[in-house]
Amino acid sequence: MDNPFVFGQSVSGEYFCNRVKEQSDLAAYMRSGQNVFIYSYRRLGKTSLVKQTMAGLDVKHFTFVFVDMERVSTQAQFVEVYSKALADAMVKVDKLQKIRNLFGVLVPTFEISPQGEVSFEFNLAKKVSSVQRGLEEVMELPKKIATRYKRRVVVIFDEFQEVENIGGATFEKFLRSYIQHHKDVCYIFMGSKTTVMFDMFNDPKRAFYRSSSVFPLKAIPAPELVAHMIKCCRKSGKSISRSLANELVSMAGGLPHYVQMLAWHTWETARGKIAAKHLEQGIKNVLQSQSDLFQTWYEQATLRQRAVYRALAVRQDIFSGQALHDFDLGSASTVQSVLRVLVKKGLINHENNVYALADPFFGLWLKERKV
Ligand SMILES: Nc1ncnc2c1ncn2[C@@H]1O[C@H](COP(=O)(O)OP(=O)(O)OP(=O)(O)O)[C@@H](O)[C@H]1O
Ligand SMILES: [Mg+2]
Repeated sequence: MDNPFVFGQSVSGEYFCNRVKEQSDLAAYMRSGQNVFIYSYRRLGKTSLVKQTMAGLDVKHFTFVFVDMERVSTQAQFVEVYSKALADAMVKVDKLQKIRNLFGVLVPTFEISPQGEVSFEFNLAKKVSSVQRGLEEVMELPKKIATRYKRRVVVIFDEFQEVENIGGATFEKFLRSYIQHHKDVCYIFMGSKTTVMFDMFNDPKRAFYRSSSVFPLKAIPAPELVAHMIKCCRKSGKSISRSLANELVSMAGGLPHYVQMLAWHTWETARGKIAAKHLEQGIKNVLQSQSDLFQTWYEQATLRQRAVYRALAVRQDIFSGQALHDFDLGSASTVQSVLRVLVKKGLINHENNVYALADPFFGLWLKERKV
């Protein structure tokens, strides 16, 4: 039997756990064309939720354009990635020639693989004027498609916070000037650098200020993760008790990615019934697989940052006099400024006034190594 746990890529279908209410809320936004800004800290399940919601909607009425901005750092790349995403989405809707005709200054070329899969290329001349014309064209395309094909177009910008690096405030203004007129299009802005995303939509000086509904994605409740794990184990011919599944979820901080990673390793070590010794081995394997990464994080940290890491590995109240003293953290204001940097980098999560290491296994690694 195959391992039923998945990490390192978005999950959907039988691998997807719960989030029923979130799916129904998001589907309502998509249906009504209401723009929405979804944010959470890293790896909580934003991409999976959007893809799962898309899969539940009728493709006859929707065109989904998925724009991954993770590696986009210039306006020319933005035009290429966005155009390609639009063309890819239209393959299910119309003939290649008609898709080509949707574009004007941007001229797509396409290849068809032996398996019949179409891939588009947009080789944009890198001249400023042609990038600008390409930008204007691609920004109008979702509306053009919505009108011409009488469909709800849903454009999903994943890792949207990257726009900040593409062209700063001017580029944000430029995007907003198009988006605000597209009533038939639903724009979904997703991002994981929560402070960056939050500022973008809540700072009155920014172009996207209050421009969309806000959708903060929360953790999946632990009992749901536990029930999902028991079900997945059962389906794959193995079993796990509720109490052990509970322990596993709690070791992984209740965070979906880490729960799945630990469950994957634990499942691999057991034959039939998953017991405490398999969980122990699973933890060891996770730590081993991540140790180079953790070592790098630790080596790259300043002395003050390391002190904060060590403190957070064992306690939450790191502002108490005792913690400041025991971990040599300096003053409370020093700790604040260290935390600000690490939260921005996504290495520490901050929610409901509680700070925690974003990766629960990093905490375990620190504790074990007694660094
Ligand atoms: N609903 C879910 N059911 C089961 N596992 C999930 C679910 N959501 C997320 N996961 C787990 O978390 C991992 C990360 O999910 P996903 O990539 O959707 O998160 P993300 O918030 O988009 O992450 P990033 O911040 O890296 O963009 C998945 O690979 C999977 O292991
Ligand atoms: Mg994602």
